[in-house]
Amino acid sequence: MMERSFVMLKPDAVLRRLMGTVLTRFEERGLKLVAVKMMNISEELAKEHYGEHKEKPFFNDLVSYITSAPVLAMVIEGDDCISLIRKMVGATNPKEADLGTIRGDYALDTGRNIIHASDSPASAKREIALFFNDSEINEYALPDESLIY
Ligand code: TYD
Ligand code: MG
Repeated sequence: MMERSFVMLKPDAVLRRLMGTVLTRFEERGLKLVAVKMMNISEELAKEHYGEHKEKPFFNDLVSYITSAPVLAMVIEGDDCISLIRKMVGATNPKEADLGTIRGDYALDTGRNIIHASDSPASAKREIALFFNDSEINEYALPDESLIY
């Protein structure tokens, strides 16, 4: 099923100059970026985005971290891409993330795990709408999409 996922490179990915490296992984996998923007997240947006965690002990630290420097927010499109991207991202705690996953290769701490990705179709829909207008999402065909393998 064709899906869209909301993916966000967190401040540590930007500050560690890992944006290109991570984007390359998605592109090389054959996924399609349909929206990308660098932005500073307001405290209000951070709290809304992470609303499911508002009672957790790490919530305040999470909000201050995610608002501490720009993020790279994006929408990625592809066949069943929501669960595929979660697999590519790896476990929330990078120490438990498999080698070969983005967190397993580039991060060490749960609180600095460099990337967010939607965990379900419902989350993806909610998160995309929080960060992007419809007009910011680009519909286009890639050259290989018309090929029959
Ligand atoms: P969560 O939605 O559980 O993880 P994921 O990003 O894999 O969907 O948590 C959201 C973020 O909150 C997580 O990426 C990092 C932070 N966090 C902590 O700082 N400490 C924790 O114990 C947990 C579970 C998450
Ligand atoms: Mg989550």
